[in-house]
Amino acid sequence: MTGIPDLLNSLSQIGKMDVDPYSGNLFTYVYETGDKKLRNIQHKALNMFYDRNALDFTTFKSAAYFEKEIIRFAKSISHADENVLGTLTYGGTESILLAVKAARDLFRKKRGKDEVPEIVLPSSGHPSWEKGAEYFDLRLKIIPIDRKNKKANLESLKSAINERTALVVASAPNFPYGSIDPVKEMGEITRDKGVPLHVDACVGGFILPFFERLGEDVPVYDFQEEGVSSLSMDTHKYGYSLKGSSVLLFRNPEMKKYSNYINISWPSYIFVNTSILSSRSVGPMASAWTAINYLGMEGYQSLAKKVLSARNYLSKEMEKLGFRSTAPIESSILSMYNDTIDLFGFVYGMQKRSWHLEIQKAIQDLVPYNIHMTLSPVHNRLSKPFIKAARDTITSPPDPRFMELMGGLSQGNLSDLMTMVKEGNINPALLVKLLEQIPEDSAREMANEIVNEVFR
Ligand SMILES: Cc1ncc(COP(=O)(O)O)c(C=O)c1O
Repeated sequence: MTGIPDLLNSLSQIGKMDVDPYSGNLFTYVYETGDKKLRNIQHKALNMFYDRNALDFTTFKSAAYFEKEIIRFAKSISHADENVLGTLTYGGTESILLAVKAARDLFRKKRGKDEVPEIVLPSSGHPSWEKGAEYFDLRLKIIPIDRKNKKANLESLKSAINERTALVVASAPNFPYGSIDPVKEMGEITRDKGVPLHVDACVGGFILPFFERLGEDVPVYDFQEEGVSSLSMDTHKYGYSLKGSSVLLFRNPEMKKYSNYINISWPSYIFVNTSILSSRSVGPMASAWTAINYLGMEGYQSLAKKVLSARNYLSKEMEKLGFRSTAPIESSILSMYNDTIDLFGFVYGMQKRSWHLEIQKAIQDLVPYNIHMTLSPVHNRLSKPFIKAARDTITSPPDPRFMELMGGLSQGNLSDLMTMVKEGNINPALLVKLLEQIPEDSAREMANEIVNEVFR
């Protein structure tokens, strides 16, 4: 056995392996408000309910209570009517997987099991849609996005829909570029063709309504558009709750039934799962409920104001440094390119100054290499130091080891890259370019190999 002081000491050492999630130096993965009181009360809620199991919401009634309350709030900001039903999941991906399963089962009910149902997804859609298609045996049909606005191309959507279409997906916003798909127009098309439309508002669901209240011009993306049949929105993103919760809403209660799993034939108790996971802690639900009630409408609005102010300041100052947005700026995400500098050098230089930026792919006829920034309220306070660092870094040369690796890869040497990834000596942002040096199938296999090595 290990004593408590030693355990605490080890835990604090292990914690030092990470980038500080509260620092604001990250632009993805965490949505930091900078409000310590909010963080502390959520940790209390997490602790109080962590040991209760949402698997049985008749024994742990708090689970059903939290879920209903969170869904009530989510509906109130998404123009949902009283018929809309929701499910609380453990994250955006789980909400999406459930939406895929529901669409598949609805399709099977209508058309039987002989045909393979299809999902139509704009190319900017999140990978969890492809994951859902793989897990649940649907075919994914990717349609292009428009070069200028990075939104789903409507003509392609029209021709992609056929009698096998089980679901069409729109994003509000999409993760890579931050633009919002034309949900209204997409809804008109899907209504006309009689197919369901899901809006992936995992990122936007808890912030776009507050941008609108602040006077921003937010295109219609939610249940206001009659064609929208389901919508996902993540409490653990701009709902500012601790990780482990997301909301999935269905316009038609019948559709929610297709997402539930019920087994009354096994030898034990009546088995009911509304989510993909079965046993799960009530803690994250308590945390989400606490965030919603601590913040309320005014709290969310004032945090949205900070994000907006950071976004406007950063985009303006970055433009002075030669950056341009890849898409119309209409959400809390910035994606910017700069063809006057070496972007890989810039990202490397920023990393040396503790700012962690992601580089996104260059795609021919669509977009050059660009950096991605998902903004949190904390970035409002940090936007000046960020711009100062960006100014100092703008002409940085790329990491010399990166250049060596590039050379090695083009001659088929993969082992150096493997070693550096395993030892954590390379910024994952640079992997985008490195993996482009090899054919896609080999790159995927190699990434898979690296993952095994990391966890060995
Ligand atoms: C648009 C979009 N959808 C879905 C997801 C998946 O969310 P999660 O990471 O909570 O599973 C993300 C994550 O960033 C996202 O950006």
